[in-house]
Amino acid sequence: MCGIVGYLGQKNSKEILLGGLKELEYRGYDSAGIAVLQDGKFESFKAIGKLINLEEKTKNFVTDKFSIGIGHTRWATHGKPTELNAHPHIGSESYVVHNGIIENYAALKTELLKDGITFLSQTDTEVIVHQFEKNLKITKSSFEAFKKTISQLEGAYAILLVTKGKEKTIFFAKNGSPMLVGVNAENEKYFASSDTPLIGHCTDVNYFEDGDYGYVTPDELAIFSKDGKKQEPKFTKLSTNKLSAQKDGFRFFMEKEIYEQVDVIADTLLGRLHDNEVLFDELDPTLFEGINEIKLCACGTSYHSALTATYLFERYSKIKTSIEVASEFRYRSPIMSKDTLFVVISQSGETADTLETLKMAKAAGLKTLVICNVDNSSMVRLADACILTRAGVEKGVASTKAFATQVTVFWMLSLYLAKKNKALSNEEIARQITLLREVPASVKVSDDMHERIKRLSKRYLHGHGFFFIGRDVFYPLALEGALKLKEISYLHAEGYPSGEMKHGPIALADPELFTIALLPQHLLYDKAKSNVEELSARDSTICAISAVEFDKADDFIAINKCKDYMLEFFEMMVAVQVLSLEISVRLGNDVDMPRNLAKSVTVE
Ligand code: AGP
Repeated sequence: MCGIVGYLGQKNSKEILLGGLKELEYRGYDSAGIAVLQDGKFESFKAIGKLINLEEKTKNFVTDKFSIGIGHTRWATHGKPTELNAHPHIGSESYVVHNGIIENYAALKTELLKDGITFLSQTDTEVIVHQFEKNLKITKSSFEAFKKTISQLEGAYAILLVTKGKEKTIFFAKNGSPMLVGVNAENEKYFASSDTPLIGHCTDVNYFEDGDYGYVTPDELAIFSKDGKKQEPKFTKLSTNKLSAQKDGFRFFMEKEIYEQVDVIADTLLGRLHDNEVLFDELDPTLFEGINEIKLCACGTSYHSALTATYLFERYSKIKTSIEVASEFRYRSPIMSKDTLFVVISQSGETADTLETLKMAKAAGLKTLVICNVDNSSMVRLADACILTRAGVEKGVASTKAFATQVTVFWMLSLYLAKKNKALSNEEIARQITLLREVPASVKVSDDMHERIKRLSKRYLHGHGFFFIGRDVFYPLALEGALKLKEISYLHAEGYPSGEMKHGPIALADPELFTIALLPQHLLYDKAKSNVEELSARDSTICAISAVEFDKADDFIAINKCKDYMLEFFEMMVAVQVLSLEISVRLGNDVDMPRNLAKSVTVE
């Protein structure tokens, strides 16, 4: 998740911008930059890696008079983490920083290239500053040019733009990505993606709404809504607790990241869904030439999203698919054939076992693809191709939004391959794409569900164990739910295919054996229901998660009635994530930093 800061005032803008970016480090980034306009002269600095590299570059740069400045920490989505791709991006006399994804950047870039514009970066963001300067040539008014530019953008953005002709003005626009502006008695203006950088500098803040755009000067904050009407700022008092602000007021980063899934999945989808096809502009179509099988390889939660993918690839793409646990695969003597695409899945891109299997596949001459959340990580640099999940930094050790975005990518990839293999009709692909567009809404945490789970979690603190059971894609979801619970509550839990209960595990059934049963309405419901009835008949305590009431359950977590089992998947995913969270909270555990665990297992 990128970070944005802006400043207008008499103070040391370099220090304010760098300090603001430091407060945004928790969002994760791989490069950073600032641009400052003072005395009619722009200075801009960019660096990859940590902020200390940017501080080193700016150490001789002095800002000791009125200035305007913008800054940015970048989490790569389009284009590698390089200095050229770092923000701010420059036109001929303007700079821009941006958080989000400009969906129609390719079309805008094509026209700008025809106009003879030279692009320095691979990013979607750079089109903004060139489009602004193109419009400025026509409108002669910076504000009109900015307004026209914003109207031409599609997608999610939080934008700050400064231009040489307007030395006391910062232009802003917000749509889909967070941004706020802060003011104080000294007529200074502060911008940021979240409120932590403003704490201690501002007294009142205005959180922009989607569609807001406008400008600030020392004496004015001009906000316009999407319909072009000027509106009064809606100031609120700024919170003073930085850690709480970093968690956006949630109790834990994991809780924040469960709620964030609505936004990050929207980012994962952005620019990739078209009417009847899925496109990945980062994939070379030749990657799949000569491929007759896919082998997936991962660890932990990433293994669970990969296991979900095996069902989707064989069902929709009609391609033979197998899966491996990385720590097992690397010590077997696996037979690998060159018509197999080797796909590794990793949130961090650094997991030692998974990385080693990637090296094995490359050494065996296989084509390789990585599904990853961290650009420029070891696996991204090593694989032949990469699809970024765009989940932003995941601080909770127990993975949530990374899993959600991995499954989203796999669902899209299964349709991408279905199109390539002519395995599904255009109509069916279009139908599935319509369903994909509903995923963000399906992972919205409802207050009712959260409150219900908070209440019922008190009954699940002291049993002798849990079964999470499900069929088909709900089996990997059962595994994931069990892992979430183990990781943060330290209670024993196992994920099982529902149909396996009668092959031994049912011997454990008794009132102290808690079964979390995933009962999707649109996939093998009757089969799964009868498996649960077998457990209920032996007095196991059942918590059913379903859109359909289940009379044999002791507890019931309702999800919405959905059009398709995959939407039920995402709704149930949120339920099991919240259930593990609330049980862990009741047990008084450190939800974000569970005992014995590390966020990235870079050792064997
Ligand atoms: C998930 O909640 C765990 N933190 C862990 O299983 C994790 O998924 C696993 O270590 C793999 O990490 P990666 O996705 O970064 O490769």
